[in-house]
Amino acid sequence: MIIAKTVSELRAYLVQRRAGGKHLAFVPTMGNLHAGHLKLIEVARKLADIVVASIYVNPLQFGANEDFDAYPRTPVDDCAALEAQRVDLLFTPSDREMYPRGRETQTTVEVPGLSEMLCGAFRPGHFRGVATAVNRLVNLVQPDLALFGKKDYQQLLVIRLMVSDLGMPVEIVGVETVREHDGLAMSSRNNYLSPQERQAAPRLYAVLGAVRDRILKERASPAGAEQEALAALAAAGFRPDYVSVRRQDDLGVPTPEDKKLVVLAAAWLGRMRLIDNLEFETTGKIPV
Ligand code: PAF
Repeated sequence: MIIAKTVSELRAYLVQRRAGGKHLAFVPTMGNLHAGHLKLIEVARKLADIVVASIYVNPLQFGANEDFDAYPRTPVDDCAALEAQRVDLLFTPSDREMYPRGRETQTTVEVPGLSEMLCGAFRPGHFRGVATAVNRLVNLVQPDLALFGKKDYQQLLVIRLMVSDLGMPVEIVGVETVREHDGLAMSSRNNYLSPQERQAAPRLYAVLGAVRDRILKERASPAGAEQEALAALAAAGFRPDYVSVRRQDDLGVPTPEDKKLVVLAAAWLGRMRLIDNLEFETTGKIPV
């Protein structure tokens, strides 16, 4: 596996390797890789001839009081994992390579509407930071496709919308969430849970399943099922930010005619904010 630390190293590699019309897949990450990331690489490998990954802990997507400094950084283990997955090139830009004029003056990408709801309402500026980093990384790597996990469902949709609005010539592929044996979605931050919190954490996914079942099997309204879910999370020791049933394609509030739905949630467990979601489909009208 080649490691490129600078944009010029990355470009030199791409010019050489892409000759002959090779298909290139890109997996951007912030490192501290787990099975969810490795699944992205595995899918990328199946879809393309060349796989490029990046590791960059993007300061623009962290709020002032968030865990940028404490975010887990495990470069040696990450390199070994990517090497084992036969990644062709790993791009590890410094802040200077990523934002050469400084992050304060960096041109940013705003995806209005979608970025302001749900997690965006609780983390102002977060999706601007994500969109700005992904836009720059994709422009540098120029992949045919880029892969993102569905665990960050809103992020995936923000990126899809950015790519569509800006006419970026890349296909965005969403990959299913990888879960622990008890249902907890894999996340780089899971290691920070205390043993007690780790035991309670899978309840989040269980509550999402209960929302789906209440709507599909018992014809509950989304609003009613959301309220029950908030109460169930609070009873399990979470401090929920939101539980919300939305349309899959644009995260709009569903009408009775909408069939493809997703329930999304964010909730605090101690000092950790967990997010998760569950897609489901109705056949009949939902009672909204
Ligand atoms: O999901 C992530 O790891 C990050 O948000 C991403 C997409 C690499 C952008 O920094």
